[in-house]
Amino acid sequence: MMTLTLNPCIDKTIEVDKLTPYGLNRAEKTRTDIGGKGINVSKVLKNSNENIKTCAILGENNSDIFLKYFEENDFKSFICMAKGESRTNLKIVDKSCKKTTELNESGFFVDKNTLNSFLKCFEKALEISKILILSGSIPKGIDNNIYKLLIETARKRSIISVLDADGSCFKNGIEAKPYAIKPNLYELETYFGKNIKSKNDIITHSLKLIDKGIKIVLVSLGEDGAIITDKNESYYAKPFPCNVQSTVGAGDSMTAILSWCIINNYSLKDTLQLAITAGTLTACKKGTQLCEFDEIFLNKDKVNVYKIR
Ligand SMILES: Nc1ncnc2c1ncn2[C@@H]1O[C@H](COP(=O)(O)OP(=O)(O)OP(=O)(O)O)[C@@H](O)[C@H]1O
Ligand SMILES: [Mg+2]
Repeated sequence: MMTLTLNPCIDKTIEVDKLTPYGLNRAEKTRTDIGGKGINVSKVLKNSNENIKTCAILGENNSDIFLKYFEENDFKSFICMAKGESRTNLKIVDKSCKKTTELNESGFFVDKNTLNSFLKCFEKALEISKILILSGSIPKGIDNNIYKLLIETARKRSIISVLDADGSCFKNGIEAKPYAIKPNLYELETYFGKNIKSKNDIITHSLKLIDKGIKIVLVSLGEDGAIITDKNESYYAKPFPCNVQSTVGAGDSMTAILSWCIINNYSLKDTLQLAITAGTLTACKKGTQLCEFDEIFLNKDKVNVYKIR
């Protein structure tokens, strides 16, 4: 399995007792994590039975923190360096009101030479992969049809793809008919340019995507759960009751296990059960922490799955 992160980030979370705008604030606690949607997918799957390859572009000025993490966690990584820095996303948690202020950088620019060396690196990582997972935003300098091109490149080598992106990256990526997609409701509505209200409506629109040649459509609905559809059936499930702490990475956890289930021939129903379990477990963890692979299987029976088509 291979994940792709074109626009990685460093999440820096700072806790303050009470945030004073325009004043001096002293940090109580600071935590730094590496992220980006593809890297998150790799983190969730790192203890699975599958061989996980992490392909990424990193800003050369602050690549150390990523490389150190990859080495310490035995990640098989395929890296292309870009001039500049990977973006840092600063999250300031105000403990007095439990609210977070975010400051997100835009990150490095990818020039033509860097894009060419990335494409070489991508092709190398594709070798002996069964599935390619394309997720997240793209950096400046890269055209928004990149996912379409990469899905097509993978298909030429009989490698299937899972797409989890938004906006025009999602729209263009769909044209290449990935095997599976995981939009949230907002992404699905943006794609169709209309409000989608009921479960039936979600299924109707999922089937339109299936008609285009996509095999599995998993639409996530945040705290309301998710609906999975293929050409024969649709299932719905909702999260089990839990103390929600931070939903950061919940969607990535779903995409990770969805891709794993495809490779391991799980039924549509069991795939949804595991996907909801993964998303919910991550939502119950603080900050940028993600669910563990084994934990998903230990908790799956807390999720009831209903056939709705
Ligand atoms: N508030 C919540 N309570 C319980 N479970 C949740 C909550 N939010 C998300 N989840 C779980 O995580 C899954 C994915 O969440 P969501 O639909 O928010 O993904 P997303 O919008 O793609 O998120 P991301 O920001 O990671 O891209 C949901 O289907 C659900 O199982
Ligand atoms: Mg998402």
